[in-house]
Amino acid sequence: LVPTAHTPAPSNVIRKKLMGYVGFANLPNQVHRKSVRKGFQFTAMVVGESGLGKSTLINTLFNTTLYPPKEPISPAADRPKTVAIESIGADIEENGVRLHLTVVDTPGFGDFVNNDDSWKPIVENIESRFDSYLEQENRVNRTKIVDNRVHACLYFIQPTGHSLKQLDIEFMRRLHTKVNLIPIIAKADTLTDEEVTEFKERILADIAHHNIHIFQAPTYENEDEETIAEAEEIAGKIPFAVVGSDRLVNTPDGRQVRGRAYPWGVVEVDNEEHCDFVKLRQMLVRTYMEELREYTNDVLYENWRTEKLLSMGVAQDSSVFKEINPAARLQEERVLHEAKLAKMEAEMKMVFLQKVQEKEAKLKQSEEELYARHKEMKDALEKQRADLEDKKRKIESGRPLTPEKSSTTRKKGFLRT
Ligand code: GTP
Repeated sequence: LVPTAHTPAPSNVIRKKLMGYVGFANLPNQVHRKSVRKGFQFTAMVVGESGLGKSTLINTLFNTTLYPPKEPISPAADRPKTVAIESIGADIEENGVRLHLTVVDTPGFGDFVNNDDSWKPIVENIESRFDSYLEQENRVNRTKIVDNRVHACLYFIQPTGHSLKQLDIEFMRRLHTKVNLIPIIAKADTLTDEEVTEFKERILADIAHHNIHIFQAPTYENEDEETIAEAEEIAGKIPFAVVGSDRLVNTPDGRQVRGRAYPWGVVEVDNEEHCDFVKLRQMLVRTYMEELREYTNDVLYENWRTEKLLSMGVAQDSSVFKEINPAARLQEERVLHEAKLAKMEAEMKMVFLQKVQEKEAKLKQSEEELYARHKEMKDALEKQRADLEDKKRKIESGRPLTPEKSSTTRKKGFLRT
């Protein structure tokens, strides 16, 4: 195995020769027995526009009717308005090995007029599965962890023969750091061999251009040539151009095969000359299922977990993950809280001062208004008093009143006579 970040290569290993049989050569068999007893869990997600043959391919891959035959398409009004996430689980057994298979389907993906956010519910679903795993890991009793994480995502590309669509690129860009992406050209029997080759080249160019990481069969040091050749062969077929069919058809030479019969011949699913189904099955099931699970756990989940824990305030020192000292953390939280309170208090003071100043300005204004009114009234009264004083003085001095008054009196006297 290649040394990973968790298992650095020891630099001072001394090679010793054994004097006789010890027995640890049997370790792989022990692991094998234990794994067989425990069984395996595998979760695959299928994403692609409606009608690209997702259910058919899953049935073909696992040679079972995991997906029952479809009901006739319902009217558009009945269709969901967003991408839904649906899981189907099945326990399957082959030669005594049990596999609990879960297939996560994403009906609705790419089926709307606006598909801009089609990737969102899928990312959320994948992350919620990581969340659930993390929560189980953090439990006091974590002996029964259920691994619901998505180990592989089969992304179905429409066999247009052109290049990737914006929807494909957006989906893969958003998902490639969270799940093992396996791109698939759906219904490859609708394209000629040359069209498939050219289409694959364009897809790979698009994937490289957008720095999208797709799952590659890994090769390790000291691996035998056969394994390396197998990995290379598989890698050479990506994106897999597949044909799905869960029906048996008769070939012109009298064989019964899984395939699709056309007036001009039969396309055989399991024939490597006809499509890449065999290589896809090898990648997904026969050779690299465990690698897919391991990569999900060691790289994709680990990266997500690191990010998540860091964002939650858990820090990592140079050697091991370590939580900040709880007392220091409390102290830090208290300081932060106090700073927040002080800031709030200062803000409140400012608001209060502002309000007081406003009130004072208003009061001053009304005081000035009052004073002006008061002065006005005082002046008026003063004038009135002066007038009265004047009148009084005139009356006392026996002088006639104002000309108007005397004329009136005169008038009155004239009337009386
Ligand atoms: P939804 O559930 O609506 O998302 O569809 P789906 O992607 O699951 O497609 P499904 O497997 O139901 O297949 C749709 C139709 O395509 C069926 O009539 C299949 O028989 C047909 N089909 C499936 N795989 C292939 C294929 O490889 N080539 C061709 N030509 N037709 C296929």
